[in-house]
Amino acid sequence: EKGGWSSFMRKEVSEQPEAVANTLLGRIVDGAVVIPELEDFGDEELRGIRRITVIACGTAAYAGMVAKYAIEQWARVPVEVELSHEFRYREPVLDPETLVVSVSQSGETMDTLMAVKYAREQGARTISICNTQGATIPRESDAVVYTHAGPEVAVASTKAFVAQIAALYLFGLHLARVRGTLSPEKLAAQLAELQAVPDKLQTVLAQGERVGELAHWMADTRSVLFLGRHVGYPIALEGALKLKELAYIHAEGFAAGELKHGPIALIEPGQPVFVVVPSPRGSAALHPKVVSNIQEIRARGARVIAIAEAGDAAVLPYADEVLRIPLAAPLFEPLLAVVPLQLFAMELAQAKGLDVDQPRNLAKSVTVE
Ligand code: F6R
Repeated sequence: EKGGWSSFMRKEVSEQPEAVANTLLGRIVDGAVVIPELEDFGDEELRGIRRITVIACGTAAYAGMVAKYAIEQWARVPVEVELSHEFRYREPVLDPETLVVSVSQSGETMDTLMAVKYAREQGARTISICNTQGATIPRESDAVVYTHAGPEVAVASTKAFVAQIAALYLFGLHLARVRGTLSPEKLAAQLAELQAVPDKLQTVLAQGERVGELAHWMADTRSVLFLGRHVGYPIALEGALKLKELAYIHAEGFAAGELKHGPIALIEPGQPVFVVVPSPRGSAALHPKVVSNIQEIRARGARVIAIAEAGDAAVLPYADEVLRIPLAAPLFEPLLAVVPLQLFAMELAQAKGLDVDQPRNLAKSVTVE
């Protein structure tokens, strides 16, 4: 079943190009998104949505956070992302014009299931993004858009995450077309970006060995920080989660803009910090800000590992290590930037002799509250 791989996790990380490609398969036809599973949601209804609430836990919630940036930009609908277990107990404001989108690899996470049921009782319409055919959450939802990542066996979610983002992006672009918020040219450009992701993922995966070396010399590290901004922020959170769960190392992700509001006090000489650097092309306003964050932490002795676009030279004078991702439009960078972080957590766990498929205290699907 592992097909020659040393672990399910290594296999699943390397299957990410197919996970995205299969999730897109048959759903982009003649420059338009075609999602037959959403037949039930007519164009009229999709035009009438006033708000989207994404509910999920853990890694799936980070996929939702990434998609929030894209869906708001493309479809001009406010999107909020909430952890399922918080959502249900705060009397959320729901109505028929609120669309609730749940994201769950297993489709069995109890908190997410209960949140979906609650949302329906309150009159909201529900769509499930799920990787498991016939699971409970899709059965309890008005419609399901399956991610086709294939079975995910390792406890830590990897290929399901990129597939979740791909499915949410398809949905966002569908919504944008129906609502007329993107010109046909812009829509086509975004779809082309999405279709280019699998090949780019292959390129990032090819750097695995470098990340492995990095992880080996960091095996004794006790704490690692992750910084990101815009779509890089949820990636920082995901990088930290992966490292906690796989390598049992204290890790925290921050929005880079928050640094001076507190977290910069954590920086002391030798503190490793991963920084997800936005592209200098797309996000003209953000790139110099993140580079200046790198300078600030470097000046306080941080050991900086930058994840930056190929050719971005601005980070070179300040970063101790630079991991490169291929050029992509800003909203597509998270799909690529997450890979070195997944690899880093996995390699570090292996360097510590840990079981990367079955981290302690964790279960693959959390079917209790
Ligand atoms: C982290 C991880 C968990 C899951 C979370 C939700 O690597 O795997 O955080 O993402 O438990 O699980 P699903 O997606 O099955 O609802």
